[in-house]
Amino acid sequence: MIGKATAEAPANIAFVKYWGTRDVERTLPCNPSISMTLSHCVTRTTVAVEASPGPDEAFIVADGRLQPGSASFAEPVFAHLARIRAWLSSEMQPHAVAEGRFVLATVNSFPSDAGLASSASGFAALTVAAARAAGLTMTPRELSSLARLSGSGSAARSLFGGYVEWPAGSGEAEAGAASLAPREHWELRDVIAVVQRQPKPVSSREGHRRAPTSPHFAPRQERLPDRLAHVRRAIAERSLARLGPVLEDEAIELHLIAMTSRPPILYWEPATVAVLRAAHRLRDGGVEVYFTIDAGANVHLICEPAAEGAVCAALAEIREVAAVLRDGVGPGPRLLEEHLF
Ligand code: PMV
Repeated sequence: MIGKATAEAPANIAFVKYWGTRDVERTLPCNPSISMTLSHCVTRTTVAVEASPGPDEAFIVADGRLQPGSASFAEPVFAHLARIRAWLSSEMQPHAVAEGRFVLATVNSFPSDAGLASSASGFAALTVAAARAAGLTMTPRELSSLARLSGSGSAARSLFGGYVEWPAGSGEAEAGAASLAPREHWELRDVIAVVQRQPKPVSSREGHRRAPTSPHFAPRQERLPDRLAHVRRAIAERSLARLGPVLEDEAIELHLIAMTSRPPILYWEPATVAVLRAAHRLRDGGVEVYFTIDAGANVHLICEPAAEGAVCAALAEIREVAAVLRDGVGPGPRLLEEHLF
């Protein structure tokens, strides 16, 4: 064996959404995006680089055992390993991985049937573990740029803790994300209302492709520079009153574009609306909480720690909410000594 490494990487929730890909092959977004890195929703991945030739192998840890993943899990993983291998060969020829193979196992901290996107945390963990197992020392920005090539652009933001921006640059150096502020800067919470456990009906990859067909796409691109500046400033000032309304505008706009794409995409479930109403009621009652929604039906309620109890209590009253996950801003990826195999 050439090397083995285990990495844990978090999911993130977008404050300003990436919606629309201008270069699918290189996963370059139409617009910059800003997110908060989560703490508890993480993927842990072990990668071994073996000198013996043969096909790559990918396993999921389920019920404490390594199990072969489904084709929908394995195909994008193998495609990303192929990109990492190509990248390794171009960076430092010849690299032993060019002849050898990757073996990996992965596990999520959150239930895989919770309908929460695990691609960002999954590809970030895979990228960090594979680079380390191959013996490379890369900066977080380089790892971020490599993670985005997975096709899950939001994985680029999971390479950093705290508050993160992924610019829309085109050179490889600017294609990675960068930190806006560390986790310690602002203790925000994310209370996730799980209303849909099944995978979303249309993948985000397809959503990105259809986005420019919506009449609301181009006007959004024009609004975004001001909105990005507004969100950067709200984070710098730790102002939820400034950030919150924009979080909601962003969520609504993403879904407006999805619903008016050709063909249209409807991610919301009736329970999504029930949670949005609960957020409005909470605010009317003086609880400062704002919603956001990625590509799916589940709702993220963003608040400061003092409001978290009231938010959870309100969600407990909604019958259609299948589960509540309490998360918050987190520190970013880390390497672990203990391997999964
Ligand atoms: O990274 P992808 O291709 O899964 O796309 C992410 C899209 C959103 O979650 C809806 C927005 C975002 O910026 O994370």
